[in-house]
Amino acid sequence: MGFAMSVLEVLAFAFVGVVGTLLLIIVVVFVIDRLQTGDAIRRNYPVLGRFRHLFSQLGEFFRQYFFAMDREELPFNRAQREWVKRASEGHGNTVAFGSTRNLNVVGTPIFANAPFPPLDDQFAQTGPMTIGGDTPTPFVAKSFFNISGMSYGAISKPAVQALSKGAKEAGIWMNTGEGGLSPFHLEGGCDVVFQIGTAKFGVRDTDGKLSDDKLREVAAHENVRMFELKLAQGAKPGKGGILPGEKVTEEIAKIRGLNVGQDGISPNRHAEVDSWDELLDLIGHIRKVTGKPVGIKTVVGAENAVQDLFDTIVKRGVETAPDFITIDGGEGGTGAAPMPLIDLVGMSVREALPLVANIRDKAGLSSRVRLIASGKLVNPGDIAWALAAGADFVTSARGFMFSLGCIQALKCNKNTCPTGITTHDPRFQKGLVVSEKYKRVARYATDIIHEVEVIAHSVGVNEPRLLRRRHVRLMQDNGRSVPMNELYPSAHPQAK
Ligand SMILES: Cc1cc2nc3c(=O)[nH]c(=O)nc-3n(C[C@H](O)[C@H](O)[C@H](O)COP(=O)(O)O)c2cc1C
Repeated sequence: MGFAMSVLEVLAFAFVGVVGTLLLIIVVVFVIDRLQTGDAIRRNYPVLGRFRHLFSQLGEFFRQYFFAMDREELPFNRAQREWVKRASEGHGNTVAFGSTRNLNVVGTPIFANAPFPPLDDQFAQTGPMTIGGDTPTPFVAKSFFNISGMSYGAISKPAVQALSKGAKEAGIWMNTGEGGLSPFHLEGGCDVVFQIGTAKFGVRDTDGKLSDDKLREVAAHENVRMFELKLAQGAKPGKGGILPGEKVTEEIAKIRGLNVGQDGISPNRHAEVDSWDELLDLIGHIRKVTGKPVGIKTVVGAENAVQDLFDTIVKRGVETAPDFITIDGGEGGTGAAPMPLIDLVGMSVREALPLVANIRDKAGLSSRVRLIASGKLVNPGDIAWALAAGADFVTSARGFMFSLGCIQALKCNKNTCPTGITTHDPRFQKGLVVSEKYKRVARYATDIIHEVEVIAHSVGVNEPRLLRRRHVRLMQDNGRSVPMNELYPSAHPQAK
């Protein structure tokens, strides 16, 4: 009895102590909040006002689990992400009961099914396509779906390793992004597209200018198949790359030619290129030095600029043309960029791609200048749309990030990515196990290719490269869909 009493007394004292301390903390916080002058909510609602900040931070994490509907979130909704996840994990991608997609949204592509599609045994395998047929070492690209540029720096070492190995397994190419060529890009043995950003990371001399010796060194790797000169990227047209200093480790600093911890800022354009003529000169120079196909990556701002480029090519001769043009849509992703540029600058790939394809085809350059499209093209319908609209290839960055396990935590610019993809913190990187994740990368690519083939067969053609604009209808605001070739008449020689 005596013992029980003393336990109760201790518990009562502890309780009073805890409550007393809590009350004291509340009073102190109340006084701090009331006296501070920077935050109006905390000054007017001391203590309680602090929960607002906490809840909006937690909302960012819990919204995608509990509150957002399947088709609601941005940049990618749950249905899009889950498709990639299931494909990457090798789970079947069949769904039950009916579509959760609102098919009446203006611009939604609807594929026109054929009354008598080819029989299963009439299907053809999608063939390879040559890029830079006139160069000494053309690139015969096996797949129409490939990995878009993400620099080593923006993404982590295990992410680059898993992408490289997965790309090899699936027979697709991987673009280095603007951070130079690392041993991790090469170790999987896949085809590599080397990107030359405006800071020329990986191919610059001590003054930051393009170095022919470094170009030759990079081109000497057999797996480096093409060079892509980046003019602009969809998420930040008119602004160069930004690699925050906390992501510039010793190794990355060495590959890029920076100091450890120094922000990696690229100029907003190539200093030596101020006109289409100068651009074609530079392309010709890189092609001569490397002997490999050279193209550009850009975002479309206005139709007349693209027309000027093709007029200049025709005037100077088709041999001066870039071997490919990557059209990145304004909806493209990034490791870090200012919000007004992400939100507001650059044409969507949905508008830009048919426009550029028409200008190219009218100039008679359909087979000379290959078109690569990117910008939120991550699910089979997106890729089928792009091929029908005029793309020869489609690339994706964030689709492949999802295949690596990205949960869209929106922390790519913070070095705190919880899935280890965009961080150099070993604590987070240990979650990204290369020997597992590369298989997911490969499965995602092969599933996309397979399902695009399924769409192609459904509209009545034998393989995806035969998809044309007449196979796609686009939903209008009157609730009726119109064939895409009526909205954007095609000039492609095989349009019919
Ligand atoms: C983390 C990250 C890093 C990127 N780094 C580069 C880069 O170095 N160079 C580049 O041209 N584009 C870069 N991009 C843009 C992508 O290559 C691509 O053009 C864009 O995200 C559109 O494709 P998506 O919608 O499939 O992601 C990056 C994108 C992300 C998400």
